[in-house]
Amino acid sequence: MKILNIVGARPNFMKIAPIHREMGKYPGLKPLLIHTGQHYDKKMSKLFFQDLLLPEPDIYLGVGSGTHTEQTARIMLDFEKVMEEQKPDLVLVVGDVNSTAACSLVAAKMQTKIAHVEAGLRSFDRTMPEEINRMITDALSDFLFVTEKSGLENLKNEGIPDNKVFFTGNVMIDSLKFFLEKARESSILSDLQVNGSPFALVTLHRPSNVDVKENLENLFYTFSVIGKEVKIVFPMHPRTKKMIDTFDLENYVASIENLIITDPIGYLDFMQLMQNARLILTDSGGIQEETTYLGIPCITIRENTERPITVDIGTNVLVGPKADRIIHETEKIISGNGKKGKIPELWDGNAAERIVKILSEDL
Ligand code: UD1
Repeated sequence: MKILNIVGARPNFMKIAPIHREMGKYPGLKPLLIHTGQHYDKKMSKLFFQDLLLPEPDIYLGVGSGTHTEQTARIMLDFEKVMEEQKPDLVLVVGDVNSTAACSLVAAKMQTKIAHVEAGLRSFDRTMPEEINRMITDALSDFLFVTEKSGLENLKNEGIPDNKVFFTGNVMIDSLKFFLEKARESSILSDLQVNGSPFALVTLHRPSNVDVKENLENLFYTFSVIGKEVKIVFPMHPRTKKMIDTFDLENYVASIENLIITDPIGYLDFMQLMQNARLILTDSGGIQEETTYLGIPCITIRENTERPITVDIGTNVLVGPKADRIIHETEKIISGNGKKGKIPELWDGNAAERIVKILSEDL
């Protein structure tokens, strides 16, 4: 049984790692790792392969950046050739990036079965490219593996038959649990001189936050206020760095007190920062889940989330982009009045085991 496991962008790597490892335990399965090259910088890709103990990709497509249509189309053209050569029994995709949707479309047109890990999440906001990717991928998939109960409801409402849908838990938490001890060996806290002092960790890369000058400037104003109380560590995504240059905000950003900006950092260093942070300010999807698992307060700078369980029972609060709301929630946490959360059902480190068992029996 040949399976093509697809990765493209940074948040895919920690999701595929436990699945690829688990498939290796089944003599009847032959998993191949295909990297589309959507993310290609060493710090956005290779570093993660090393940290997550992932083998080199069996096939690397090297598609790189472009508009959404260019990137999606390039992945499709190159992946079609891979499909013709490899003739797999299944294509397994994770998450909601352009690589996820592009490879699903090719597989569906070549009448090959598709498994989608992290199916059913919906923000109901079609201005997000990821929402389009989620809907396309779920509509085409034969196996839909769901991380939280909202996903089951969403798929039912979209008419996906129950027998295709499996509530298996969260593979991102599999990686987190697996690597948490190892992450404690990281020297990142002393490297950045934040050991022993409370600090906020920031990540930002959503087009809605960083591609509009006014919005980006407003967020840095917010950090200038928060920086008066705690240090802020901000590993910066290439998209955000590019927009700071484009909008000529370098001097303003450099003038902000207590703001420590770094290049993107690897998985283990980031886990170490996250588990020691007083709070996290983010617009990422996965970090909302990781902080809920770790019990670290998370302020999500978005109007909506496709991961509502992190707000319903976890440590996440949605604040939107307004400075006063972000500052208010941050101060609440710093003064010890942050949300206390619970860990969602089946976020137990064994999701990949459940997924691969189902595939090995039903494929
Ligand atoms: C992509 C995903 C997003 C995910 C994010 C995580 C889509 C639609 N978006 O967004 O869901 O949350 O990854 O990081 O798939 N760049 C580099 N080096 C790289 C990669 C990108 O410099 O290795 C720069 C390029 O200028 C590029 C820009 O970042 O144009 C954006 O990259 P892209 O892959 O288009 O989207 P992300 O914003 O990374």
